[in-house]
Amino acid sequence: MKHKTLIFQDNVLKLIDQRILPLEIKYYEASNYQEVCQAIKKMVVRGAPAIGATGAFGYYLAVKELIEKDEVDFSNEIKQAKSEILATRPTAVNLSWGIKRMENVLNKAFKKDLEKNYIMDNLLKEANRIVQEDINNNKRLGKYGNELINERDIILTHCNAGSLATAGYGTALGVIRAAYASDKGIKVYIDETRPRLQGARLTAFEMMEENIQATLIVDSAAATLLKDQVIDKVIVGADRIARNGDTANKIGTFMLSVVAKNYGIPFYVAAPTSTIDFTIDKGEEIDIEVREDKEITEIRSIRIAPKGIDVYNPAFDITPADNISAIITEKGVIKPPYQEKIKRL
Ligand code: MRU
Repeated sequence: MKHKTLIFQDNVLKLIDQRILPLEIKYYEASNYQEVCQAIKKMVVRGAPAIGATGAFGYYLAVKELIEKDEVDFSNEIKQAKSEILATRPTAVNLSWGIKRMENVLNKAFKKDLEKNYIMDNLLKEANRIVQEDINNNKRLGKYGNELINERDIILTHCNAGSLATAGYGTALGVIRAAYASDKGIKVYIDETRPRLQGARLTAFEMMEENIQATLIVDSAAATLLKDQVIDKVIVGADRIARNGDTANKIGTFMLSVVAKNYGIPFYVAAPTSTIDFTIDKGEEIDIEVREDKEITEIRSIRIAPKGIDVYNPAFDITPADNISAIITEKGVIKPPYQEKIKRL
């Protein structure tokens, strides 16, 4: 994509503001970890791998601020900063994965008794490594995923698992990019993805920038397209994958998987191994974020539902492993049963 999701320069994290895309291309600037937390919470930046990389830079900024202060209980304060970053969004495991990597580097540096500037240098290198590895992994998983795609396939995707949701290239859209680059003549259908419209705003933007032929639909049109065999494959991203293959992704993913299974359409999840939570056995253990009512009751600050109506707005759902035809990772494609194969990753 022409525009980078995140840029870290001169101790400022610049994030393309995904709340206003595609109408405006503006960068939000965070120069401390609190501003990074706000950016994740308010969804300036979103998408599991992008949140992971953003959290890593947030951790870097927190250490930088605290390490300069003389009269501060560093270990307590950094713990506090860490829990604030982790509390921003609970579902995507990449956030805690990114912070863990930074924490390990910090602990090693303390053990070696390194000087402050070396500590900061090591932390910055680790955050940049997370970014670079994510881009490389997405390109790798794109190649593996492309092996599942036939000439002229029509692919349905949900939400945005693209360059904007990652450090670059994308997961589900990484597979689509790889298929397009190999001249397979693919076409894409994009679910608009209520309520925040990541499909209509972000995936459509990415597809148009690359000239990939795409059609936007409302979420509820997907079932008919699957029934009519218009769609050859469904490819989605993931926010967290349990050890048995159960997958949390954007609300509506589960419903798509049920319909796809009913009509015998392959349903693929594309995700880097940083999205696998090796500490949980199954989907029920995943914390599903519930977001504020006004995402549903308002459209661009205009009220559309009657005042006082009860609202339930979960941001993600769990697709059971049984509904997933394959999981595409940077280490290869795995097919059910997943348990043992995920363990080996
Ligand atoms: O609420 P969002 O926009 O952060 O949700 C994003 C998704 O559900 C994506 O599909 C997922 O994070 C994978 S991104 C490569």
